[in-house]
Order: sequence, then C-alpha cells, then structure tokens
Amino acid sequence: MPRGGPDASWLDRKLQTDRLEYTDRSDVPGTVKEKIVAALVQIGTKYGTHEANSVLVANMVADIPEPRILELGAGHGLLSRRVLELHPGASVTVTDIDPALVAGMAAGPLGAHPRATVRAVDATAIDAPDDSFDLVVFAAAFHHLPPAAAARAIAEGTRVGAKFLVVDGIRPTAGKLLLRYLTLPPIVGAVMLLSLRTPLSAIGPTVHDSFITCLRHYSRSAFETLAAAADSPVAVEFPATDRIENDDHPVIFTRS
Ligand SMILES: C[S@@+](CC[C@H](N)C(=O)[O-])C[C@H]1O[C@@H](n2cnc3c(N)ncnc32)[C@H](O)[C@@H]1O
Repeated sequence: MPRGGPDASWLDRKLQTDRLEYTDRSDVPGTVKEKIVAALVQIGTKYGTHEANSVLVANMVADIPEPRILELGAGHGLLSRRVLELHPGASVTVTDIDPALVAGMAAGPLGAHPRATVRAVDATAIDAPDDSFDLVVFAAAFHHLPPAAAARAIAEGTRVGAKFLVVDGIRPTAGKLLLRYLTLPPIVGAVMLLSLRTPLSAIGPTVHDSFITCLRHYSRSAFETLAAAADSPVAVEFPATDRIENDDHPVIFTRS
C-alpha cells in the first residue's frame, strides 16, 4: 500500500521513499544518532511539541488513578518524564528499539525514577502480555515503519494496550506535500542555525531525517487501511485538535 493510502494519486506515489533515516540505520555511528536526538529535544522543546504530547497522554488517562503507560520509540524520554510529573499515579514503561538510546534514557532521570521502567522494545513485536497497559503511545515515530510493520505495530499496540495513541504527521494532499518537499529542508536548516544555534554538524543529518520523514508520513486513508489489516477489528479515531496542519496529530486505535 502506498503511504498515501490505496487511492493515492500518481504524484503522491512519486513523493514517497523507502530511504531510511539515519536513526533507522545500524551502519551509522551512535554519535550521529545522538546529535539528531539532541536536535529533536531542542526543536520539540522550543516549539512545545513534547509538552503538548505529554498533556495529551496525561489527559487520556486522567480518570485512571494508577494508569500503566507504555511509550514506544521514546528516543530521549522527555514525554514520559513529563507525564510522570503531570500524573502522580502513573507508571511508565519507557522504550525504544535502539539499545544506545535505551541506555541513554536509563542513565538519566528515568533510570532512577520509582515509577519508570526503561527497556528495549520493538513496536512491531512487543514482549508483554495482552492488556498490560491502559495506554500505549508512539510519538513522532510511526512513519519509520513500512506498511507491513506498521500494521503489526497497530495489532501489537492494541493487543497490549486498551488504547494505542500514535502521534505523527498526517500526509496532506499531493500538492501540499510537494510544497512541503520543496520548502522543508531550507526552513528546518534555517530554524536550527539561526533560532536554535544548533551545532553545524547536527544540522545536515537532522534536515535529512526530517525530509525523509515528510515523505514517509501516512495519510488518513492509509491509517484506516493499516488498521483494517489487523487480525481483530480495530477502530481508528482522528480526534480534533488545535494543532496546525504541519504539526504531528493524534490518531487513536482501539480494539473493537
Ligand atoms: C524521530 S524519533 C522520535 C523520538 C520521540 N518519540 C519524540 O517524540 O521526539 C523516532 C524513534 O523511533 C524509534 N523507532 C524506530 N523504529 C522503531 C521500532 N520498530 N520500535 C520501536 N522504536 C522504533 C527510533 O529508534 C527513534 O528513537
């Protein structure tokens, strides 16, 4: 299935790629990945993305006194750290597929937090029993998975969790995507250089990954088609938000 969904136009199909991001590649030095993750922390903090995602998660479990939350693809762990502050009863299992990123999170405040567990987990094969969590969250990472793996992640997220929250870019129409394709690299580069004073060595890899990211986002119809491919029926919701179109948006999967 194309990233734009089964009915994707010719142009939409041209504007997708199988090229991997640096953070997906085992042949890329850990130092490069660390620079990209540090830049994600910087950008997400400056533009309030981590805070908005943490508030979203905390609100979704606000009615549960001691919610169990699994964060997949956590990278740096800022979302889980903030959720622990926002919900004093929450316990979080904070994970990533990359062992070096897991080690980095375990060495920081999450590693010592009494309500946090840090470990390696692959979103497409979660080693946890059914219904282990009230909420599973996968932020800014779902597009890393090609369609077959993405469908497995939906099946796994809804198997181990009562709700599976994906927060990621929603692929726009092909025309808007083309505009994003042409403008995103210079905009991200300029913001990092001028506004965030990011070290030059981090800018190239981060711009590369954000460019690949926009070409790999799934459309609404693709999310629906992926959910329909799960073994048992899964409902998909696109809750209304005040986020701008270019931001990441919530998509909630629930086993019917
Ligand atoms: C762009 S980073 C997002 C980090 C963080 N969630 C955020 O919101 O900034 C994507 C993360 O997804 C992780 N990832 C990629 N494939 C994964 C998989 N199959 N299972 C779990 N994590 C994965 C990467 O290692 C990386 O840390």
